[in-house]
Amino acid sequence: MRKIVIAIDGFSACGKSSTAKEVANQLGYNYIDSGAMYRAVTLYFHEHYITSDNPKEVSKALENIDISFNFNERMAFSETYLNGLNVEEEIRKMYISNQVSKISAIPEVRKDMVNQQRKLGKKKGVVMDGRDIGSNVFPNAELKVFMKADLTVRAERRQKELLEKDQLVPLPEIEENLLARDKMDSERKENPLIIPEDAYILDTSELTFPEQVEFVLQLATEKMIENDG
Ligand code: CDP
Ligand code: CDP
Repeated sequence: MRKIVIAIDGFSACGKSSTAKEVANQLGYNYIDSGAMYRAVTLYFHEHYITSDNPKEVSKALENIDISFNFNERMAFSETYLNGLNVEEEIRKMYISNQVSKISAIPEVRKDMVNQQRKLGKKKGVVMDGRDIGSNVFPNAELKVFMKADLTVRAERRQKELLEKDQLVPLPEIEENLLARDKMDSERKENPLIIPEDAYILDTSELTFPEQVEFVLQLATEKMIENDG
């Protein structure tokens, strides 16, 4: 079968990346976590005291940033590397979550990341999740899914995830972060978070993880059959 592009967008902590990862595994596709790329840029800016309001400084910093994904056989997923260093754990911490929406709204940053994402998906056979994948990175993606879920459900899921990494973060702090990011991501000028007209909407609030994976896999199969024409 000819390969397709699957774009999964939506609000924070709805289950986008875990679903995208599993769908990619089952289809033998590549999974690309576009949010991890913005998080890695945020980590670099944080470490180098780069502020968002100086375009020259931003462009220069971007030249020095190399982001890659390397498959970890033991964990069975791709980890994010920034200039050769594994930053998978660091970029998920709250101090990065609290800054990432500001950094990802910088036009130069978006332009650079979108270019890289398009290259990564050029050969198709890719599942990419983020905020503007279906609307901007791959407007012609064969399958677009937009995920949402209730705020409390999302915060509880994120809290559990952080706890598994020994980070105890109070629920109100997580809720505040999710709401603030949803707002900034939806209201920014460049490629805001929107629901693409041709996206399938998936509310994961009351779904189990296998149910939401099945939803996407079924649609993917339909689209692959259509694509083979
Ligand atoms: O996993 P979570 O939903 O918390 O966020 P993420 O997917 O890791 O994305 C982190 C942040 O990166 C988002 O809140 C956005 O500000 C930004 N992002 C973006 O602007 N465009 C994308 N395609 C992906 C992420
Ligand atoms: O990528 P995004 O921020 O949208 O969410 P995620 O990191 O994939 O999911 C947040 C957490 O919710 C993960 O630990 C998932 O395993 C969990 N979860 C889920 O995605 N779907 C459910 N139905 C239940 C839990």
